[in-house]
Amino acid sequence: MGTERVLQELGRIQTFFPILPQAGNRFAVDRPWEGLTVGLHLHLTTLTAALIRELVLGGGKWVISAANPATTDPGVVDYLRDLGLTVYSGRSINDGIAGTLSVQPDLFADVGFALGAALLRSNRPLRGGVEISRSGVSKLRSLPLTFPVVNIDSGRLKPAIECRHGVGDGLWASFTALTGKHLAGRPVAVVGYGPVGAGVAACARANGACVSVVDSSPIRRLIAQYDGFETPTIEEAVAQSQVLVTATGSRDALSLELLRQARDGAILLNAGHHNDEIAVEALRREADAVDEVGPQVVRYALGGRQLVVLAGGNPLNIVMNSGSQEPVLLHFTVLGLALEWLAQQNDLGPGEIIVPLSIEEEAARCALFARGKG
Ligand SMILES: NC(=O)c1ccc[n+]([C@@H]2O[C@H](COP(=O)([O-])OP(=O)(O)OC[C@H]3O[C@@H](n4cnc5c(N)ncnc54)[C@H](O)[C@@H]3O)[C@@H](O)[C@H]2O)c1
Repeated sequence: MGTERVLQELGRIQTFFPILPQAGNRFAVDRPWEGLTVGLHLHLTTLTAALIRELVLGGGKWVISAANPATTDPGVVDYLRDLGLTVYSGRSINDGIAGTLSVQPDLFADVGFALGAALLRSNRPLRGGVEISRSGVSKLRSLPLTFPVVNIDSGRLKPAIECRHGVGDGLWASFTALTGKHLAGRPVAVVGYGPVGAGVAACARANGACVSVVDSSPIRRLIAQYDGFETPTIEEAVAQSQVLVTATGSRDALSLELLRQARDGAILLNAGHHNDEIAVEALRREADAVDEVGPQVVRYALGGRQLVVLAGGNPLNIVMNSGSQEPVLLHFTVLGLALEWLAQQNDLGPGEIIVPLSIEEEAARCALFARGKG
C-alpha cells in the first residue's frame, strides 16, 4: 500500500517537474559510480526516493540511512528496499550510520554532516562527499577534514531558491493544514533571518501576517529592517507573538526560559534542520499537562498558559512533505551531479569545496527545461 502511494507520487513528480530523469538518463549511459560504494544519509521522503531512483541507474552499490525518524516515510523505505537497496531506518540514527560505515563507502551525501563526521572518525581513505544543509556545513567547518566535501548549501541556487522560496511555502501550508488557522492579521515572529527565515517571513507577510524578525546578528537585523520588518528583542517577540517560528540552526533558540514568557495559546514551529531549536524536551519535562490534540499537534500547559508545538519541533515542512517540490528537486539534481563530479575527480585534496558553477549551471538548465514542460 505504502509502496503504491510512493510509486504514484513518483509518477506525479515526473509529470509535473521532470528534472531528475534528465540527470538519470545520463547516469544510466555513463555509469559514473560503477565499482564504487556510496552512502546516503538523508531525510527519506518521496522526493528523496525520486532522487535515489535516478542515482542507482548510474551503477555502484548504494546504502542509505534515515537522517531523522520523524521525517522518514515508511512507504519510501519499502520502495527503496524493493529496489534491492540496503536501508537503515530504525529509531537509532547512530545504528544507521554504523551500518553505512560497515560497508566502507567511497563517496557519501549527507544532511547535517552526521555520516561525514562518523567517516572522519573512522579514519579511512575516501574519495569525498556532498553536504546539503546549512547545519551540516557549520559542523564540517568545525572539523579537520581529511577528504574533500562539496558544499552545495553555499552555492548560488540553494539559498536563492530552496531556502528563500521553498521552505516558507511548505511551512505555512502545513501550519494551516494542522491548525486550520489563517495567518492574516496574526502577530508572527521569525527567529533567524538567513535565507530560510527570510523566505518564511516573506511568505507569512504575503499571507497577511504581521511579521517581526529576531536575529542575533546585527547585519541580518539591519537587512530585515530594510525588507520592512520590525526587529524586536527575542523577549519582546516572544511576549507579543501568537506564532513563533525558528530558522536558526541553533539549539534552544527558543529556550524553556523564553517559552515561560510566551503568550497564552502561542503556537511554536521550526523551519530549521534539527528538532532542538525549540526546547521541546524541557517543555515536556516541565509541563503541568501534555495533550495530543491532533496529528503533529501537542498542547502543553506551562505555568497557567497553553503552548502548542507542531511536529514535535521537527522541521515542519519536511515532516509534512509540503509545499512546491520544485526547489528540493532542483537541489537534489545538484546533489546527484556533484556526486557524479566527485566520482570523476582523481586529484582533489581534503577540505570544503563550494559546488562548482558548471554543476549548478547544468542543474539550472535541467530545471528550466522541466519548468517549460510542466
Ligand atoms: N526546513 C527546511 O526544509 C530547510 C531547508 C534548508 C535549510 N534548513 C535549515 O534552516 C536553518 C537556517 O538555514 P539558513 O540557510 O537560513 O541559515 P543561516 O545560518 O544563513 O541563518 C540562520 C540565522 O539565524 C541566526 N541565529 C542563530 N542562532 C540564533 C539565535 N539563538 N537567536 C536568534 N538568531 C539566531 C543567525 O545569526 C543567522 O542569521 C538551518 O538549520 C538549515 O539547515 C531547513
